[in-house]
Amino acid sequence: MATAQGKRRIRVWHVLLALLALLALGAWLAFRALSQPLPESILPANYTPNLENGRNMFFAGGCISCHRGTGPHVELPAGGRKLKIPGGEIRVPNITPDEATGIGKWRAIDFVNALRKGLGPDGTHYIPAFPYTSYAWMKTEDILDLFAYLKTLKPVRNETPLETRRFDRFALAFWKWMALPRRPFRPVPGQSTEWNRGAYLVVGPGHCGECHTPRNPIFIPDRRRWLAGAPHLSEKGDVPSLRGLKKRGRYKDVNDLFMALKYGEAMGYEDISSGGMGEVQGNISKLPDEDIRAIATYLMSLQ
Ligand code: HEC
Ligand code: HEC
Repeated sequence: MATAQGKRRIRVWHVLLALLALLALGAWLAFRALSQPLPESILPANYTPNLENGRNMFFAGGCISCHRGTGPHVELPAGGRKLKIPGGEIRVPNITPDEATGIGKWRAIDFVNALRKGLGPDGTHYIPAFPYTSYAWMKTEDILDLFAYLKTLKPVRNETPLETRRFDRFALAFWKWMALPRRPFRPVPGQSTEWNRGAYLVVGPGHCGECHTPRNPIFIPDRRRWLAGAPHLSEKGDVPSLRGLKKRGRYKDVNDLFMALKYGEAMGYEDISSGGMGEVQGNISKLPDEDIRAIATYLMSLQ
């Protein structure tokens, strides 16, 4: 009797161990699958980048706000600053075209993978303080234009190693699977070209939802409460809602909001200056007027 029971216990352990091994294997295979970069074949053939558009994407995306260098390099995205994130700080990397310490050696597809999949050339899963969950909505051509523009900037030698640890990368692969959009932005039928342009700039490069949209308990922006206002992730206080701006009397009309986005505090629009919004407004002001107006048109339509 005693031996029969002993044997049964051993069998239960074997089954449990086999199940655990299977689970671990499954998780590992899923991790491998989720770490696959996009292949070069998704790029348009013989594409000639538009540098002017690349510059606009650079400012719409606010890249300089986080990647700004220090000392003599404040005008260049030479990195090195620390960014406050929930639970700590993170160093922002150098994205000038320096070959040794920046992205000088990157291929176009590496850059597309960074913005669209939050994935580095060596398979690193980036921490979403880099707002790729928004940039993932960008058109491939816009990303290529932006890459070409970055290549025209002065290379700065500045070592800025990433701070992700192995466990972060593993967890991030699964988080990204839930958080990343499956395809780039598609215009909403029935809306004007201007409205769709504004929506694209806000959702994709502008990454306005990263601050203005509340997140669920695992930090994924809640699309049902899109731009409905949220607690600030790196500073005290709240980020206001961008819905019902007209009804709440925040702005008279599209032109009023256009003026606020273009001139900000200089024209007496003070609700657009603190908590990072001053930087955002400064970047937006560098866009062509049609784009600023498109953003205002889209925002004023939100109920
Ligand atoms: C809100 C701050 C923020 C903004 C805005 C931002 N980034 Fe970043 N970016 C980061 C951080 C932080 C990292 C590092 C992520 C990590 O360590 O996992 C990063 C990483 C990167 C990397 C990877 C660099 C490397 O060495 O692997 C690239 C490329 C990049 N960003 C490009 C851009 C571009 C282009 C824009 C503008 C369209 C942009 N970023 C806007 C914060 C930002
Ligand atoms: C880094 C976080 C952050 C990002 C990114 C951001 N905002 Fe803001 N935004 C804020 C904060 C904080 C305020 C409140 C500023 C104040 O009260 O001075 C604000 C205020 C505003 C206001 C004024 C609202 C009102 O009630 O008057 C508008 C409009 C606005 N943001 C539009 C945008 C747009 C468009 C984008 C994307 C291009 C954007 N924001 C991206 C943080 C952000």
